[in-house]
Amino acid sequence: MATKVGRPGRLKGLQAREGQERAGERPVHGPCTFIVFGGTGDLARRKILPALSRLRHGGLIDDDTTILAVARDKGMDDRGFRDVVRQAVEDDGMSAKEIEDWIEKTVFYQGIGGGAPEDFKAVATRIAQLEQERGQPPNRIFYLALPPNVFPSTIQGLGEAGLSHSTTGEGNGTKYWTRLVIEKPFGRDLQSAEALNQLIHKYFDESQVYRIDHYLGKETVQNLLVFRFANSVFESLWNRDHVESVQVTVAEELGVEGRAGYYEQAGAVRDILQNHGIQLVSLVAMEVPAMMTAEFIRQEKVKALRSIKSITPKNVVLGQYAHGEIAGQTIPGYREEPGVAPNSRTETFAAIKLEIDSWRWQGVPFFLRTGKRIKERLTEIVVKFRKPPVWMFTPLGSPELHRNTLRLTIQPDEGFALYFHIKAPGKPLKLERLPLDFFYKERFQELPEAYQTLLLDVMEGDQTLFVHADEVEAAWRLFTPILDNTLAVSFYAAGSWGPKESDELMQRNGQKWSNRE
Ligand code: BG6
Repeated sequence: MATKVGRPGRLKGLQAREGQERAGERPVHGPCTFIVFGGTGDLARRKILPALSRLRHGGLIDDDTTILAVARDKGMDDRGFRDVVRQAVEDDGMSAKEIEDWIEKTVFYQGIGGGAPEDFKAVATRIAQLEQERGQPPNRIFYLALPPNVFPSTIQGLGEAGLSHSTTGEGNGTKYWTRLVIEKPFGRDLQSAEALNQLIHKYFDESQVYRIDHYLGKETVQNLLVFRFANSVFESLWNRDHVESVQVTVAEELGVEGRAGYYEQAGAVRDILQNHGIQLVSLVAMEVPAMMTAEFIRQEKVKALRSIKSITPKNVVLGQYAHGEIAGQTIPGYREEPGVAPNSRTETFAAIKLEIDSWRWQGVPFFLRTGKRIKERLTEIVVKFRKPPVWMFTPLGSPELHRNTLRLTIQPDEGFALYFHIKAPGKPLKLERLPLDFFYKERFQELPEAYQTLLLDVMEGDQTLFVHADEVEAAWRLFTPILDNTLAVSFYAAGSWGPKESDELMQRNGQKWSNRE
């Protein structure tokens, strides 16, 4: 089904957005050249091109925005790539005529060789040529939709070809911009992430760099800041005095989906916890930023990450799925997947207890878990509040059963539910635990795709939803103690909630995972 086109409301963009709506939702940025390295690849086809087409269809990006795909396929040309775009965007809401007008006018292709300096010179020449022919300013986005092993050579190639600088117009002093968008994974440990940051900073200023974590583009993840900082009722409870524990779950029904080559080297900690998982933790744990700007929000997230204590192996459970069943379907074990080593020790599940040494959170455990081939797809944050200091209803059961809990569901069924108690009518006295809830789908039309939001933010120069160099390094630093492949990996049945050791981790801490029945 076509995704409804709606202007994604950005955090920093909130004020600008009001004015803009009055002006009729015109794009706030001028035309630019959007250069996608890996433009014919899977990510471009599945995410980037459809997002661009929806933004174009919604009138949210300038009609003249040029798309230039760069890839190592010398046999491809503008016409061939236009076919790729047609296929990628056919279900995205534009009419056939609209697609043709868009593609024929604005979509181009540049084939390169193995990444030699001449290849980047050829890219530079083509960009300049297109800008001149199309009468466009040299505002440029370089999007690296590439395998991570070619990030360094591409960054260096761009830099050495003189493509990394933002420029100033000769004679008129107009400031033009150049931005770099880089996909995950950003390094595979602290050392490689630091090296990549150093290389980037050799050619680009941090203000030009947009590191993608697509979770930050999800509406419900952005809503965490609004939920916390626009509602004093919650923020006043958001601390060690009132919160007993926090659980963050990123569970997937999916397996490795033909990506074994990548996943065997990554595993659940690198694939999800170090980025999506820890982003959710930092948004829950961070202090109130001085202002809702990229700079202040990202500073607070880094501070939160730095106050998490080093992870100790006793607080970690790793698992790998064995065969099982999900929704009536038999699922093979991870080691039976094509491309996976028969004795693979790669973890497809990880559960971790985090301890935060801050005034706000000292003594409040944060439990973070992720897994593939779990019973259901669910990304959720569960905040358990402390039980009442004195329990007056003992005959009605233990206070453990009657704790206030807040579930913030990131996906699916986006929304939240706050569980509290009421007296069921009549006698004898009986308590019931009920939710006060809100679901996006009951109030709003379809939510914009994360990539729509993120691409528009890059064009508008808003870095709020992108990961700062310090943040990515702080996250790697945190996981360093458990990246050396020495921890035991337990098996769990596909379709379960992970290995029993994960439940035992909770029991040892007097807790229980809040799985939905
Ligand atoms: C990606 C991971 O970053 O996120 C995948 O590499 C995972 O393994 C995906 O499946 C999950 O994203 P979403 O948006 O479907 O929750």
